Amino acid sequence: MLYYHPDNRQLTTDNQQQNEPINNQQHMNAILGIDVGASGIKGAVVDVQNGKLQGERFRVPTPHPSTPEAMAGAFAEIAEFFNYKGPIGCGFPAIVKNGVAMSAANIDPTWIGTNAEEVFGKHTGCPVFVTNDADAAGMAEMRYGVGKGENGLVMMITIGTGLGSALFYKGMMIPNTELGHVQWKNGKSAESYASSGARERLKISRKEWADRFNEYLIHLERLFSPDLFILGGGESKFFEQYKSQLHTNARIIPAKLLNNAGIIGAAVYAAEQ
Ligand code: BGC
Repeated sequence: MLYYHPDNRQLTTDNQQQNEPINNQQHMNAILGIDVGASGIKGAVVDVQNGKLQGERFRVPTPHPSTPEAMAGAFAEIAEFFNYKGPIGCGFPAIVKNGVAMSAANIDPTWIGTNAEEVFGKHTGCPVFVTNDADAAGMAEMRYGVGKGENGLVMMITIGTGLGSALFYKGMMIPNTELGHVQWKNGKSAESYASSGARERLKISRKEWADRFNEYLIHLERLFSPDLFILGGGESKFFEQYKSQLHTNARIIPAKLLNNAGIIGAAVYAAEQ
């Protein structure tokens, strides 16, 4: 059962306890991972040795407008909730180069050119390491999830407000692939046609959406010939409902870590900096 805070802050278990201060100096393997999304900012402390969440997840709705200042306030709430001091890993929904956001498809455009590591670092008082959210999720799946031991060309697609991508060959990642932004036949980004955001905006059924998503996968297959597609993000929870509509030569499997992959991958990213 979920426990809801009055103002929509959300814990994923109902066993709310007083959080003991977590000082990363004493628990080197316990790192706070935060997944920043267009609709919610979610965090949990992760044991980076085994990729498991240590306790509950905490979610804060993404402020609107999602300016750097407003987002940093919500981000800091998560660190405060866990009473956490130490390095923080962050998955962020944009192209990220050296901590700087270089795009803003589903967040406030003032993010472009903003150093996310500095802004989040200032608000939390902790060193923050920022990477693309889909890259973080992909890293977690390759290490602890269904991608483990997969040595061919693996393409992870995260399906949410946008479409995120992470590309691996022989376990090595090519960062910031942004395959949700391949130009589609409507002249816009593919994510405007085949993301969950598009499904909600256009009010189409999941069945109709799945046919669109299949077209998208076939297009990616023509370009990259992957051996395996891993589907993550919120929509991956419903995989059983639409898997029979997806047809590619590559295998297609849902992410094992589901929506926690972004949090886990973010923590691992910080641990390795
Ligand atoms: C962004 C990507 C992000 C994806 C999923 C896209 O709109 O451009 O950077 O990974 O959404 O959040």
